[in-house]
Amino acid sequence: MSIDTKRTPQEYEVLSGGGAESAEVARRGLSRRQLLRRATGLGVALAATSGTYAALTMFYPNLAGQFGSIIQLKAKTAYKPAAQKDFLIDEQGMFYEPLAKSYIMHLTAAGAQFLLSGVTLTNQQDAENWLKDDADGTYWLALYQVCVHLGCKVPFRNDCVSFKCPCHGSHYNIDGEYLDGPAPRSLDRFVMFFSSGNVMVNTGKLNQTVQRPDTSTRILAVPTVACHA
Ligand code: FES
Repeated sequence: MSIDTKRTPQEYEVLSGGGAESAEVARRGLSRRQLLRRATGLGVALAATSGTYAALTMFYPNLAGQFGSIIQLKAKTAYKPAAQKDFLIDEQGMFYEPLAKSYIMHLTAAGAQFLLSGVTLTNQQDAENWLKDDADGTYWLALYQVCVHLGCKVPFRNDCVSFKCPCHGSHYNIDGEYLDGPAPRSLDRFVMFFSSGNVMVNTGKLNQTVQRPDTSTRILAVPTVACHA
């Protein structure tokens, strides 16, 4: 079962405590029902006091520049692109941005092992929020850090050249596409764009619709290295 896809990232962070609390719940071995009861209890408490909107306002009094709004990250040049087999977290190819609760992918065109081509590829990239930089042909993506199974924060593993959730093992490719494990779909992703040479991420616009890929929709070749727990 997945986290509630009806909620915005901000609501999810408030009601569940975000990835950190969910990770703790998962580590303690609590059931999904207990997790939902806990989230529901908090939601009722929030509604009983001043309502969810007021709670969101309390947690996020001014969203400008904060999670839930458009966030300006670093200059594009701060994110060194790499071939997909050479990704190293915070060195090349993949970068963690805590303010946006996101991983920024920057993939070279020559180093991308595409399984699709032509209009099929571009349509699928559009559906999965890929951004192509016309200046140099590289590809960008902003992935939400939360595992779509039960909400743990998913680390990028250099040894796996992919994301591997520490809670129940869900496994995602460098572009967030589902590989294996209990996750019901691929990682969620934000809309991103460039402005005056800077990387911008709209953390108020989360795409939660990328399903487990099949041969007609999987964009990138899967990692060839084994990835153990
Ligand atoms: S929270 Fe269960 S696999 Fe990530």
